[in-house]
Amino acid sequence: MIKLAPSILTADLGHLDDQIRAAEAGGADYIHLDVMDGQFVPPITFGPLVVEAVRRATTLPLDVHLMIVDPERQFEAFAEAGADIINLHVEATPHIDRLLRRLHALHKRAGVCINPGTPLSAIEEVADVADQVMLMAINPGWGGQKFLPAMLDKLQRLRGMLDARGVRPDVEVDGGVKANNIAACVAAGANVLVCGSSVYNREASPRENLRNLRGAAEQVSVRP
Ligand code: DX5
Ligand code: ZN
Repeated sequence: MIKLAPSILTADLGHLDDQIRAAEAGGADYIHLDVMDGQFVPPITFGPLVVEAVRRATTLPLDVHLMIVDPERQFEAFAEAGADIINLHVEATPHIDRLLRRLHALHKRAGVCINPGTPLSAIEEVADVADQVMLMAINPGWGGQKFLPAMLDKLQRLRGMLDARGVRPDVEVDGGVKANNIAACVAAGANVLVCGSSVYNREASPRENLRNLRGAAEQVSVRP
């Protein structure tokens, strides 16, 4: 099953409820929330208060992406705010194994996230602890960037590494996913696709965009 996770980063936050309803109407599987602290990445976005507001607006699972330094100090606040899946960058903590296990203790799904420049070996040892591995296809910090083509090969190697270890976490791709590359991401092994500016944009409604993305993604999964 392919899951689509619209990111509200490029949504109109002044009309948060409407924007989330529009994603639900388009068949979104998760809502993806990009938390940035101005240190791990230059921009600052939002914290647990906004996650709480989104929690009140939808029953969809909330996929929270923490782009923050020292996530150990903060992740419990996001768990309390109603996150269902919490994704931690391997680059942001020397204790990724411990934090993933603490998320399990809080009854949350535990995701590990990896930047384009970080080798896959950085997450190999926690592949059997994580419920989700999230591969960045852009350098994090901004929506609307171009998918780095080399990340397709990295995705295939990630899938090979997971198969070799006999584990099957969800594989999420974040950054630059559009209707014209979503099928390639699925073919390379992704089953959760973050879609920011390809859902929230001026060209079409989130509902139309999500239908279009779903159609493009499923071209691969229905192939014999
Ligand atoms: C960027 C964020 C992404 C972003 C994706 O650091 O992690 O989730 O919202 O936006 P698009 O899909 O426009 O690249
Ligand atoms: Zn993200």
